[in-house]
Amino acid sequence: MNYLLINGSPRKGNTWMLVELIKNEIQAMSAEAVFDEIHLADLELPFCTGCSLCFRKGHEHCPHNKTMREVISKIDWSDGVIFATTTFNMQPAALTKNFIDHLCFMLHRPYFFTKKAIVISTVGGVGAKKAVQYTAGTLRGIGFNRCYEFPVVSYSYNAYEINEKTKNKCVKMAVKFHNDVASKEMHAPSLALLIPYNIFRGMSPAYAPGTEYESLDGIHWTEPVRAKKVYDPSIPVPLYKKPFGGLFYAIGKMASKYAAITYRK
Ligand SMILES: Cc1cc2nc3c(=O)[nH]c(=O)nc-3n(C[C@H](O)[C@H](O)[C@H](O)COP(=O)(O)O)c2cc1C
Repeated sequence: MNYLLINGSPRKGNTWMLVELIKNEIQAMSAEAVFDEIHLADLELPFCTGCSLCFRKGHEHCPHNKTMREVISKIDWSDGVIFATTTFNMQPAALTKNFIDHLCFMLHRPYFFTKKAIVISTVGGVGAKKAVQYTAGTLRGIGFNRCYEFPVVSYSYNAYEINEKTKNKCVKMAVKFHNDVASKEMHAPSLALLIPYNIFRGMSPAYAPGTEYESLDGIHWTEPVRAKKVYDPSIPVPLYKKPFGGLFYAIGKMASKYAAITYRK
């Protein structure tokens, strides 16, 4: 299995110590596991400029595509991602937020359907849960099949000594994550995920080629491979969830009659 460790914090600090514990545990379970690392701080990714070219024409047109392309291809290579972000002021570190801003187009056109992730954050006292939920929610929104949340209170700025309880939690998380990744099982999407997916699908014909505000969303969602499915064809959806997706498709379709997003520039 291939694992990508993404460090969304400005340093290799407390949060990274937990990443390494989990990595070592996975390596102990599976000698074949291969790891690669990305430290967002090293990429010097400029802030998202808000040009919206990724939404309208495709992320290849992003002024920072050279950097983002490398990250996306490394995620493509991986089976599992371990994403670390320190909690700053109850939110992910700005490096992580800037990275997420560059991936917002994938909330419109989710992509990483077969990937699984853990999101880890440490915090001095309060706020890691929120930071992790925000980051994990984004990963699910861009397609990740399963995303484990791992917020930890470090009670420390520096000289972090990981206590036994946290070490044990790291081991349990590593086992659970690796077993899931190695199983290659694709989990059905939650009802909460089917809502945005199908609203975008329903609204997309309003942006199809030939319409006033045509965009890549319109091309993407009207492609036969996904136009009639409540979720990506690579992921199984149980019968009872399909009408739910269909309902939000209809809501999206209706909404598109009253609200058009005017992306043209
Ligand atoms: C700029 C900054 C903001 C922080 N914000 C919070 C916070 O909102 N809540 C908190 O309990 N600790 C906060 N802390 C403490 C860190 O979350 C904590 O030390 C964390 O374990 C550091 O992880 P790292 O070594 O991976 O960067 C903050 C620290 C810094 C430097």
